[in-house]
Amino acid sequence: MADSTGHAVVTGGSSGIGLAVVGRLLGRGIDVTVLDTRPIAARPGPPGDAALREYLVDVTDEKAVSEALDDATEQAGTVPGLLVTSHGIRGEFAPALDLDLAAFRRVYDVHVTGTLVAARSLVRCLERASGGTSPGGSVVTVSSTTAYGGWANQADYGVAKAAIRQLTQNLAVEWAPQGIRVNGVAPGHTLTPMVQEMIDQGYDIAATEARTPLGRLCTPDEMAAAIEFLLLDATFSTGVCMPVDGGWTAVGK
Ligand SMILES: NC(=O)c1ccc[n+]([C@@H]2O[C@H](COP(=O)([O-])OP(=O)(O)OC[C@H]3O[C@@H](n4cnc5c(N)ncnc54)[C@H](O)[C@@H]3O)[C@@H](O)[C@H]2O)c1
Repeated sequence: MADSTGHAVVTGGSSGIGLAVVGRLLGRGIDVTVLDTRPIAARPGPPGDAALREYLVDVTDEKAVSEALDDATEQAGTVPGLLVTSHGIRGEFAPALDLDLAAFRRVYDVHVTGTLVAARSLVRCLERASGGTSPGGSVVTVSSTTAYGGWANQADYGVAKAAIRQLTQNLAVEWAPQGIRVNGVAPGHTLTPMVQEMIDQGYDIAATEARTPLGRLCTPDEMAAAIEFLLLDATFSTGVCMPVDGGWTAVGK
């Protein structure tokens, strides 16, 4: 079987940060398999020979994720050794006293269970392909600046993102002996369809820009560049959750 670093899986790869990651990886000649509940509108990035495959699956459905990865492995002729988990949904943005518990559980499930399901499905794939001993791999999760400190009205989303940050460290320690690195990014506000929807609904983005030392939002491609670095180039980093936030978490007041 061909080199597993030539095949990447991107959850949430149909939109926003995930889509920008897909474009960058295709640009490096890496085959990409997207797992998302929505289809990709158009192939991102420069034209090239790398293959793009997509599967419409909910990342919380472990059987569907596992079947998709098995099929992608067969189609590509290469087990995926790279994973970026960029799927996600918004929280209710409501006070803790008003949170609907079913919605709270769904936010946690999509973000945290979905990240675990995608990561362990990939590692199982790698182990099956190499007869029980993993040939190594690299995972990048997507947390958030809301995982750092307390934010009002974020008891659902912020808690889920803090759990992803913790999960990143746990998996990094567990899988280091197999040569699998697990890192994460903690994005600040990035202008994706998720944030555009918030702006359209009246979110005060000018206040966010003013609070950000670099004074602006991140672009999806800037976020994808940081993810690409951790995924492919930061070969002695594991268990790191790197803020990519224009200095937001660095502010001391
Ligand atoms: N944009 C930001 O400012 C920002 C900041 C911090 C963290 N994040 C995180 O970055 C990640 C990407 O967000 P984005 O801004 O690109 O949003 P986005 O809405 O543009 O993309 C998210 C993608 O995830 C997919 N998705 C949602 N639920 C899914 C599920 N159950 N199974 C499979 N796919 C699913 C959506 O269909 C969508 O394509 C999310 O985890 C988000 O929480 C974003």
